[in-house]
Amino acid sequence: MAVGIFDSGLGGLTVLEAVAKRLPDVPLVYLGDSANAPYGVRAPDDIYNLTTAATQRLFDAGCDLVILACNTASAAALRRMQEAWVPPGKRVLGVFVPLIEALTERQWGDNSPPREVATKHVALFATPATVSSRAFQRELAFRAIGVDVEAQACGGVVDAIEDGDMILADALVRSHVDALRRKMPMPDAAILGCTHYPLMAEVFQDALGADVKVFSQANLVAESLADYLGRRPEMVGPGTQSAFLTTGDPVRVSTRATQFLRRQITFQAA
Ligand code: DGL
Repeated sequence: MAVGIFDSGLGGLTVLEAVAKRLPDVPLVYLGDSANAPYGVRAPDDIYNLTTAATQRLFDAGCDLVILACNTASAAALRRMQEAWVPPGKRVLGVFVPLIEALTERQWGDNSPPREVATKHVALFATPATVSSRAFQRELAFRAIGVDVEAQACGGVVDAIEDGDMILADALVRSHVDALRRKMPMPDAAILGCTHYPLMAEVFQDALGADVKVFSQANLVAESLADYLGRRPEMVGPGTQSAFLTTGDPVRVSTRATQFLRRQITFQAA
């Protein structure tokens, strides 16, 4: 039994870490497509082709359920994959819905009609491809009414994180928060809509100020996955081994991952 976790690079490790803590007995196969990161500046067709290839690799590794721990892939490819690509007996889930369920104070999987919620002004920080897809606003509109969303495309942040240049990432985050504040001076909540951004969560919170509630996906996705597997235990596939796979250079990727998670992580070639 194994669940697959996919990201364009290292960001999905924030989700993997939370899932591993919440579901310690479930083997997890992580695939980071570092050779092709960042996805956030790519065209939707390109993101779709890369995401289906990576998901197939995880199916081949014994996963029946794959989590796209990548907002960009969830925004640009997931719906198309679910409609026309995912084979029978397999399942692919994204990371938007658990976040939006939490923001709109719903139980996991509650699909009742949209309603008024306490949060009225939401700042969304995400990659350029996620922002231009408007997938977040679409999913939110299914669940809440009267919420004003201001999205900020955070160019450069993912590259800086993948390169391990945290000083540059810090400066870019602060300038993106400034840009957002010029459009929405007083957000109630901020969404870190890219799985790389929790690695910069303290900088976002510091730049936004203590009054802004910052929603980050990792724990929400882990809780929602635990709930899903409680209802669909058969979706834990036949794989028995945890593994970290990368399309990039395993040595370089292992070094960065070990630095981010502060424990030894060893990647192998995908
Ligand atoms: N971490 C990913 C996300 O959640 C992708 C970032 C990228 O590759 O641009 O969007």
